[in-house]
Amino acid sequence: MTRILVLNGPNLGRLGSREPDVYGTANLDDLRAILASSAGDAATIDVRQTNDEAELIAWLYEATDASVPVILNPAAFTHYSYALRDAAALVTKAGIPLVEVHISNPHSRETFRHTSVISGVATGVIAGFGFDSYRLALDAVLRLTAARPA
Ligand code: DQA
Repeated sequence: MTRILVLNGPNLGRLGSREPDVYGTANLDDLRAILASSAGDAATIDVRQTNDEAELIAWLYEATDASVPVILNPAAFTHYSYALRDAAALVTKAGIPLVEVHISNPHSRETFRHTSVISGVATGVIAGFGFDSYRLALDAVLRLTAARPA
């Protein structure tokens, strides 16, 4: 069965209580349940979160080495982490899908959020649909993996 890594960057472990007006009231366990039910038998979903840039990079190496598609919410790293961008490029240059997601629409928020250093190396970007951003990304990844030679 296809495995999909759903990687979440800093402060996303606080979903549920963090700025609910922006990010809603659901937490990462809710996200796990939503994605597991959306994926059904099509994929195993591994949802992880870290505040540590090095750990996120290590997970992208893991995805590259094991050829596992990635749904990535880089959180604030989106806007300035060239190290994370370079690690994300390893994934997509290996022909493995990596979809960048955001719960909010960063383009409708503060100016510093308008720049993503990740988007240029991502397969695609989905933002602004709350937790549905992840569901839409899952759909995209499943379509891409169905099209991908084994
Ligand atoms: C976010 C948007 C980022 O600007 C912010 O730093 C986050 C969450 C989102 O999912 O909307 O932590 O990636």
